[in-house]
Amino acid sequence: MTAKQNARALLCALLFVGELSLAGSLSSQGMRGTIRKESFGKTASGARIDLYTLSNKKGMQVAITNFGATVVALKVPDRAGKAADVVLGFDTLEGYENGTAYFGATVGRYGNRIGGGQFSIDGKTYTLPKNNGNNTLHGGIVGFNKKVWKAIAGKDSESLEMSYLSVDGEEGFPGNLSVKVAFTLAADRNELKIDYTASTDKDTVLNLTNHSYFNLAGEGNGDILDHVLMLHAKQFTPVDKTLIPTGELRDVAGTPLDFTTATSIGKRISENYEQLVFGKGYDHNWVLARAESEKGLTLAAEAYDPKSGRKLEVLTTEPGVQFYSGNFLDGSAKGKGNKAYGQRAAFCLETQHFPDSPNHPNFPGTLLKPNSVFHSQTVFRFSAK
Ligand code: GLA
Repeated sequence: MTAKQNARALLCALLFVGELSLAGSLSSQGMRGTIRKESFGKTASGARIDLYTLSNKKGMQVAITNFGATVVALKVPDRAGKAADVVLGFDTLEGYENGTAYFGATVGRYGNRIGGGQFSIDGKTYTLPKNNGNNTLHGGIVGFNKKVWKAIAGKDSESLEMSYLSVDGEEGFPGNLSVKVAFTLAADRNELKIDYTASTDKDTVLNLTNHSYFNLAGEGNGDILDHVLMLHAKQFTPVDKTLIPTGELRDVAGTPLDFTTATSIGKRISENYEQLVFGKGYDHNWVLARAESEKGLTLAAEAYDPKSGRKLEVLTTEPGVQFYSGNFLDGSAKGKGNKAYGQRAAFCLETQHFPDSPNHPNFPGTLLKPNSVFHSQTVFRFSAK
């Protein structure tokens, strides 16, 4: 090769590499999601609230408000590629302020029930306000779902972080608890990931979860009794008639709570099985099948809507999942587009520690101590077939 040919070859090679990296950066830019911020109005006490909409390039959109760190809308495509909003909720902030069903909310400080509204740490008893018969439900009278959170959009346009400081004594719980909830919509997969992080300055208990109500046919589109469910759990925690666990871990085998094989939600929901009578349907905590040594995400649940073809998989680092079949919905809450959400218009899969754990030493612990950081992760993964 002459010097001239050499120079030309080098130039060609450089141009080629240049094109490759340009193509690379264009496509990665193209794959990135976007976050749009708009006003969601003002609370009754005058706090300005925002709504953040995360979109990816696979047709998924998630709208989240900093009121209650709440998932307001979640749009995913069906098998024909047509998107629908698959979570119950309201069009306005007022709906969330007045609502009692925890639609889409971040639930805390202690998700699910604490029996008798009390627990003790190191011999000291803490008394909580009771808001569910004799029990405390979902953090008390003013839980995290009714708080104004601080939002920071991540630099990567894929994630949104919400933070909240729950002060010592709030709703009876000890310790200043600093909580962060990060919502990430994957750029290239229809997957919403929620990361919970918390730290405290005094021993306290916590159980954080998200309370989205799913209807994979689209919110307001009938009931979920034909949805097919799988729960990767061999046991559940039976409850008394006030839905407080008795402490027993019972095998699901041979009961209508066995979802180890795909079964429609409606198939056994009305059976005369005491646990279903107590729950008015499904409202129980399943013990996720996870090897003792297994850390990280485990597949907890799979739900499928045969009509639309939409499928939801729930993965979590938590030890339990509360499957609630929307038994208390009674049409009185008017949701999006003024639709009445009747009984079983949706289901919840609340990844969590077990209900009333602070009063059950045999359950996985929910105690958080100063100088340690709590972290859990849950992924809602969507597909269609
Ligand atoms: C949880 C509870 C249910 C019900 C809903 C909210 O899932 O287990 O009993 O209170 O929250 O309505």
